[in-house]
Amino acid sequence: MRYVPTPQQALELTKQYNKEEFHIRHACTVGKVLGYLAREIDPGNEDYWTAVGILHDIDFEKWPEQHCIKADALLRELEIEESVIHAVVSHGYGQCSDVEPTRPMEKYLFAVDELTGLIGAAALMRPTGFEGMEVKSVMKKFKDKKFAAGCSREVITKGAQMLGMSVADLAAKTLEAMKTP
Ligand SMILES: [Fe+2]
Ligand SMILES: [Fe+2]
Repeated sequence: MRYVPTPQQALELTKQYNKEEFHIRHACTVGKVLGYLAREIDPGNEDYWTAVGILHDIDFEKWPEQHCIKADALLRELEIEESVIHAVVSHGYGQCSDVEPTRPMEKYLFAVDELTGLIGAAALMRPTGFEGMEVKSVMKKFKDKKFAAGCSREVITKGAQMLGMSVADLAAKTLEAMKTP
C-alpha cells in the first residue's frame, strides 16, 4: 500500500540514500522550514510538508545526473504516495523536471530550497549566527552575486513570483523559520 511518510520515516529513507552530513542537514533544514510555514498556511498538515521537505533531494547524493528523475522512480518503488512524489519532483521544475509546482507547499519548496542555502551561508559569516540576524542582511547577500554563488538567485526569484510575494518577504519568512530551534 502506498503511503505518506511521517517526518521520521522521511528522515530514515533520506539517510538510507545519503551519507554526507551536508545533505542530511539540508534535508532537515528544508523540512523544518516547510513545517514551520505549514503552521500558518496549511494548518494540520505540518507533518506532510515537513516530510516532503526532508525527502526532496533523496536521490541527489547518489544520482546527481539523474536528479528528480531517479527520485520519481525510487519513491515509487518505495511505495510513497503519488502527491508526495509530485511535490518532490516539482522542486526541480525548469532544471531537472518539467513537473510544475502547483500547490502552495510545492511552490514554497521550490522557493525556499536555494534560499535556505543562502541564508545558512550568511548566518555562518556572523559571529552570533542566526541570533539577531535581520532580513536586510539576507537581502544584501542576495544582491551580492559573488556570495554563495551556487544558490541560484534566479530560482529564488522565480519561486517568490510563483507565490506572488517579494523576495524580501519570502526571505523574512524563511529566516524566521530557520531561527526556530
Ligand atoms: Fe534538488
Ligand atoms: Fe535541495
